[in-house]
Amino acid sequence: MTKRIALVTGGTGGIGTAICRELFTQGFTVVAGYNSGGNHNKAKAWQEDQQDAGYEFDIAYGDVSDTESARQCVNGIEETHGNIHCLVNNAGITRDSTFRKMTIEQWDQVMHANLRSVFNMTRLVIDSMLEEKWGRVINISSVNGQKGQFGQANYAAAKAGMHGFTKSLAQEVAAKGITVNTISPGYVMTAMVAAIGDEILEKIALTIPVGRLGNPDEVAYSVAFLASDRAAFITGSNLAINGGQHMF
Ligand code: CAA
Repeated sequence: MTKRIALVTGGTGGIGTAICRELFTQGFTVVAGYNSGGNHNKAKAWQEDQQDAGYEFDIAYGDVSDTESARQCVNGIEETHGNIHCLVNNAGITRDSTFRKMTIEQWDQVMHANLRSVFNMTRLVIDSMLEEKWGRVINISSVNGQKGQFGQANYAAAKAGMHGFTKSLAQEVAAKGITVNTISPGYVMTAMVAAIGDEILEKIALTIPVGRLGNPDEVAYSVAFLASDRAAFITGSNLAINGGQHMF
């Protein structure tokens, strides 16, 4: 069988890198989507570092929040590699602020980068998945989309919205060999989480029964499982990977 193609948006970030590596290990041809504020050299340096570590990835620039940029990104990948079989909607940003101080720009930026992006990217790959009668859409949400978080009305709304999307699309495509699932990581040690600051982070760590933050590999293994043939009967689910911080 020819290799399946996986696109991981935000692929050069903390969790994204771990996902790319694990999907590569599982036999996918992996394309890491990146935005990096248009810093192509940074993405190329990342690609070289990964190559030095034994991982061969293609990289593809795109702003997932922008419909036209997303289209160009996916078209470019299809021209080089063919149809995308596995889409991991992993790109995301935070603009944390208490609601009273939150601006409409902070709201829109987060809704566009974290939720509109899911529409943009999935819309572009779903037709070819339906034609091939095989596909995997995996949406990386957050524990904060499940429980809410002080200072994240925008982020929690977008992340909760992702799972509503998952459950609806999962029903529409289930009979065609396509699964759609959400993974909701808790606090995982990445640059995004480190930016919270040590004092707040220490308080958060105390609320995690496992007693530590997660590591990116612990999310990536689950993505690879959901992307496999063995997970064909799992669709519309929301897998919590949060060290017990939120159980329901
Ligand atoms: N619960 C209750 N009260 C809180 C609070 C909390 N968690 N955090 C702050 N407060 C209180 C403060 O004690 C202070 O109270 P007083 O005014 O009575 O002294 C007040 O809120 C501060 O309000 P401000 O509007 O002045 O807030 P600020 O400018 O100090 O910053 C914040 C607020 C931006 C939300 C900051 O606390 C913060 O960054 N918190 C972390 C938010 C967070 O967890 N983000 C997750 C990022 S990682 C991620 O998103 C990945 C993932 O998916 C898990």
